[in-house]
Amino acid sequence: MILRAARKAPQPETPAGGTVVPRHVAVIMDGNGRWAQARGLPRAAGHRQGAEAARKVLRAAGEAGVECLTLYAFSSENWRRPEGEINDLMGLLRFYIGSELNALHKEGIRLKILGDHKAFKADVAKMVDEAVARTAGNERMTLAIALNYGSRGEIVSAARSLAARAASGQLDPEAIDEAMIDASLDTGALPPLDLLIRTSGEYRLSNFLLWQAAYAELLFVDTLWPDFDGEAFNMALRTYAGRERRFGGR
Ligand code: IPE
Ligand code: IPE
Ligand code: MG
Repeated sequence: MILRAARKAPQPETPAGGTVVPRHVAVIMDGNGRWAQARGLPRAAGHRQGAEAARKVLRAAGEAGVECLTLYAFSSENWRRPEGEINDLMGLLRFYIGSELNALHKEGIRLKILGDHKAFKADVAKMVDEAVARTAGNERMTLAIALNYGSRGEIVSAARSLAARAASGQLDPEAIDEAMIDASLDTGALPPLDLLIRTSGEYRLSNFLLWQAAYAELLFVDTLWPDFDGEAFNMALRTYAGRERRFGGR
């Protein structure tokens, strides 16, 4: 008798050929400050509640079979915020990694960082590096966190690295194509972006995944991020499943 390795059942496809469950979902987690303000609380309380929402959404994404969840946690423009708030956010990141790392690892989740977290306080940057290294072999799901990330900066870095290879004669400029640029971005190893969600009723990308969003489905919801949860995420997945993706075809 021939034993065949168990294969993962292929995902059902929509008539247009896309998968019903998005492989890669990214979220601009916005509205923490307004959530706190509405309750007369300090902004830090909104960020804390926002971290809870992230935990719930990660669980829901894993259960739904999403391969990669990308969360925008700190933009390269967020340095414009008061120092006290930046410190609160760093403290929260420290706490989140400290308390969640074991659970992430046990659940087979690989942590990936987009952006330049080296600019963070040395102990936070080290903690992040260790978390990435520890979970590097996990394959069930990827959690990508954008830290000190800006899409234009990411594209500049990719351009520089390709230019350096061209200048040293390792790369023919004519060989540079979309796939090569795509692979040179921080998201190079991640599945193509299918769905981009922004909470809090703001309708902009705020320098997030500009290249990657070229054919992603966009979903803007009014819910403030700390109120977003697994149910809200599942609703977003249902909305996505009902969309028709054309990719320029008819
Ligand atoms: C998103 O919430 C969290 C970060 C940008 C770190 P905000 O802090 O931007 O909340 P609002 O937009 O002021 O309500
Ligand atoms: C985008 O939210 C960044 C993150 C969610 C981390 P912001 O609140 O910083 O964006 P703007 O300033 O409203 O565009
Ligand atoms: Mg905001």
